[in-house]
Amino acid sequence: MSQEGRILKFEIFRYNPQKKGDEPRMVPYEVTETPGMTLFIALNEIREQQDASLQFDFVCRAGSCGSCGMVINGKPDLACRTLTSKFEDGQITLLPLPGFELIGDLSVNTGKFMQAMSERVESWIHDIGTDDMNFNKLEERMDPDIMDEVYELERCIECGCCVSACATKRMRPNFLSAVGFMRLARFYLDPRDKRTDEEFYEIIGDDDGVFGCMTLLGCEDHCPKNLPLQTQIAFLRRRMVMVK
Ligand code: SF4
Ligand code: F3S
Ligand code: FES
Repeated sequence: MSQEGRILKFEIFRYNPQKKGDEPRMVPYEVTETPGMTLFIALNEIREQQDASLQFDFVCRAGSCGSCGMVINGKPDLACRTLTSKFEDGQITLLPLPGFELIGDLSVNTGKFMQAMSERVESWIHDIGTDDMNFNKLEERMDPDIMDEVYELERCIECGCCVSACATKRMRPNFLSAVGFMRLARFYLDPRDKRTDEEFYEIIGDDDGVFGCMTLLGCEDHCPKNLPLQTQIAFLRRRMVMVK
């Protein structure tokens, strides 16, 4: 519940790996709460009024670019969509998302991970070979139900919360993670992608792929876009089991 004028007590992870001799530590800050305050507003206030060196990322401020993921009181979530009023005791601890290269403080390099993931799942429609290509050919109509499923998966904003919430990823650094499975499922479901099941198996048919998922469900619990992660992972696993 929002209590206008109350003092919010922050504990924020600080560490700049680029700065020689810097040590990871938690630093306290206090911010006076205002109506409708989000963590985006509070962090900007800290940066503008208390510590200009604090690093964090925001672009859209509307839950659609995926850049503001961080661990908020122990749970990965989007800072721009988190109201300070939800913290009844006014205590807020912020850490960077684990599983990604740390840039500094709350800023992590999700882009590097997402690019590698895209390359690994070959994140594009694999159509017929160029020799067979007829550029005047009309695209085939897609079944509306399949189209809905494909576009549902395209709502992923690559925030990385599912990666950070997955204990398997901690144990297996090369684990593709839910975001990678969703990207692959998007192409697996798309009838325009002509890859065979065997070709998809080559990408995800091992313990760093769907067979490594231990159904821990942290990904589904913390996906801010509420994507059907578990349903799609189970679907892919069933299909891959049938390949070999
Ligand atoms: Fe974020 Fe959900 Fe996409 Fe994972 S699947 S990157 S949690 S939007
Ligand atoms: Fe990890 Fe989600 Fe599987 S949390 S173990 S990818 S169900
Ligand atoms: Fe874009 Fe939060 S700033 S999702």
